Amino acid sequence: MNNGLLPTIQQQQNPNTAFSLPSSFYTDPEIYNLEKQKIFGKSWYCVGLTHQLPKPGAYFTVDIAECPIVLLRDKQGTLRAFFNICSHRAGPIARGSGQANLLTCLYHAWCFDLEGNLKGAPEMKEAEAFDWSAHALTPLLVSTWGCFIFVNHDLHAEPLATYLGDMPERFQNYLQDQDLALAHRAEYWVDANWKLFVETNMENYHEPTLHPSLAPYYKEIETEAKGNYTYQWCPEKDVAFLNKTEREDEHPDTIFPGLSPAEMSATRLVTFFPNFDLGCSPGSISAVIVDPQAVDRTRIELFWLVPNTEAALSSDNLSPMIVARDQVHREDLQILPDLQKRHASGHYRPGRICPTREVGLLLFQNLVIQSLNEAG
Ligand code: FES
Ligand SMILES: [Fe+2]
Repeated sequence: MNNGLLPTIQQQQNPNTAFSLPSSFYTDPEIYNLEKQKIFGKSWYCVGLTHQLPKPGAYFTVDIAECPIVLLRDKQGTLRAFFNICSHRAGPIARGSGQANLLTCLYHAWCFDLEGNLKGAPEMKEAEAFDWSAHALTPLLVSTWGCFIFVNHDLHAEPLATYLGDMPERFQNYLQDQDLALAHRAEYWVDANWKLFVETNMENYHEPTLHPSLAPYYKEIETEAKGNYTYQWCPEKDVAFLNKTEREDEHPDTIFPGLSPAEMSATRLVTFFPNFDLGCSPGSISAVIVDPQAVDRTRIELFWLVPNTEAALSSDNLSPMIVARDQVHREDLQILPDLQKRHASGHYRPGRICPTREVGLLLFQNLVIQSLNEAG
């Protein structure tokens, strides 16, 4: 392994013989700092939705994995992303979200146009050989999958479409040409390393234990783990937490038009390395962004999309789904601090993973190890 900071651990290919990660991956601040550089500094990761940038001049800020970024739509409507770091002395050039023609730093009021060019700098006339173009904002790559916005710090990274593999095609009917309304947003915080949350999303082994409401569907779940994702699906039947089905009282406007019979009878979940989780059902899409904020503290943001119709946006339709999903989230989140505490105790020895139910976990752990081992 590189740089001497990491414990000696290699990728494992065979789920029948594989072990979980050692505790240092969840507790060591040095490893956490490496993850910020080598995972979030190099991978495509999700930052939000195009719904947050409805028109030219709209912007919002995020600091996923503690990296300040501003997302905006320039005057032509093109999506852009910049580090939210002023080129003078590192002030914030935006906070929160809003609408602007120029972004003005909150420290000494240098201002930038929506293409990142420095346009104003008070009292800098005396500065000799002051190169305005050298003080433009630093851009990131930005791209979208459906309404989901991803960024990559590495301007030479592979295209997002390559990173996503065959998933855009397989989720096309949910995300393309659908008029999706952002119906609900929720933020959760948990005292646990970010990977503990992602790992929970990538396996269903815990479902009968932690989620009694999902236990009836446990046997039906199928999993595929490859590339940068773990894909899980289960027959819809009446999976109330994600959706309703073709019940007799169902209003047709609460269901996405154009779904195949298979899509009408299933709930599909895909978890992308490193921080994005998407769940699609016939009448709703949930998206989760995982946001590391310390080695043992994680922010989770949930977005809920439905067909942009009165029936779908009615509280009668939304409330039961949101309440049930919130319950499942809380069931996951309540156990994670218990895991974090046990990792921090120094008394955990890596254990064998479940070969049938934790293949996604193995993929995720391999991607973490691979990223941390990459040069640069
Ligand atoms: S830090 Fe931005 S203007 Fe000084
Ligand atoms: Fe769970």
